[in-house]
Amino acid sequence: MKVSKIAIIGFGVVGSGTVELFYKNKELIEKRSGRKMDIKRICDLREFPGSPFADKFTKNFNDILEDPEISVAAEMIGGKTLAYDYTKKLLSRGVSVVTSNKELVATHGAELIKLAKENKCNYFFEASVGGGIPIIRPLHQCLAANRIERIAGILNGTTNYILTKMIYDQVSFEQALADAQRLGYAERDPSADIDGDDACRKLCILGSLAFGKHIYPEYVHRSGIRNITLDDVEYVANAGYAVKLIGLIDRTDKGLVATVCPRLVSVNNPLSGVNGVYNAIMIRGDSVGDTLFYGRGAGKEATASAVVADIIDAVKHENADIASLTWEDSENRDFILPYKSANVRVYVRISARDADSLKSFITTLFGFVDFIPRKQRSSSELAFITPEIEEYQIDRKLALLSEHADVMRKIRLL
Ligand code: HSE
Repeated sequence: MKVSKIAIIGFGVVGSGTVELFYKNKELIEKRSGRKMDIKRICDLREFPGSPFADKFTKNFNDILEDPEISVAAEMIGGKTLAYDYTKKLLSRGVSVVTSNKELVATHGAELIKLAKENKCNYFFEASVGGGIPIIRPLHQCLAANRIERIAGILNGTTNYILTKMIYDQVSFEQALADAQRLGYAERDPSADIDGDDACRKLCILGSLAFGKHIYPEYVHRSGIRNITLDDVEYVANAGYAVKLIGLIDRTDKGLVATVCPRLVSVNNPLSGVNGVYNAIMIRGDSVGDTLFYGRGAGKEATASAVVADIIDAVKHENADIASLTWEDSENRDFILPYKSANVRVYVRISARDADSLKSFITTLFGFVDFIPRKQRSSSELAFITPEIEEYQIDRKLALLSEHADVMRKIRLL
């Protein structure tokens, strides 16, 4: 019986997790894939003395590229320079590539998928979004009959872990981030987590797949969680909300509205209860309605679960590409609307010498607002939630308010 030979490129957290999981469940994996499989090569520039996989290591990528036996390679080096070069070379030779590299997929996905199809192989990236959560395959296979109306997700484990620690344990932002780094959740440069870039890349991948056109990260408005304070967390909890970093795409008649930013999520919405490193993605289809995908969004074992599943699928589909896993490139952002043209409710926190005296002015500005109570609230601060109106209009009203008070925070509602 032919043995399908696999290569692993990058033996970091996810790469080593993939190799360990593969050998842990090899028998089951082979049974499920209906064929024999083995990892032939592991490419990494570092030394791994004492590794049980010592006979497989190489520092030379060409040992993989030029090996005619290798039919599937897992790229887990990350970034978009070397990984891009290697992926193109492998796909051009008809070697399927599976990856957890969301940066590469979000930047060059359309091109790499096309290249794979031209060479009758596959480019799979289940692990690039939501860690171990099955979401890519459900989106283009199980939900294929639907027109997608909305994607709303908690797409970054590190920020969700930090916000959860702030909400439940009153832990400082810095301490929670240090914990997330220690647990292997954070990106090498954690600002990609904190400032929303990582969630944005994942949203772009989901949106490109759901709406058929490449959504580049620069098309999407994003802001991260650096400014969220324990004051905000307490106020919004009193109003029945949790703060979450949400990636959101809504389809409207005129185009898509795409954002990554902190949002207030009602306690009645299941996304508000997604805590710690867990991610969740709500997909709304015109036929199915709302669906929710939940699981560990980062970490060695969870991400390896998705990588190994892709390896199995790639082995099962040698010499045949999966037609539904595709989207077109886009030349411009015409199909994305200015995000401030969308109607939204926002939470606002202001500071003023006598904040309460501004209540009637605020009510006149917005028509109706919910003022939020807080135990031992100082008379110099006030927090409220506006009605739903176009965000441009909200900003104009807040500009008027800022003539009388410092507008400390503005957070959109989901
Ligand atoms: N840094 C990412 C996160 C890792 O925290 O979600 C998984 O993509």
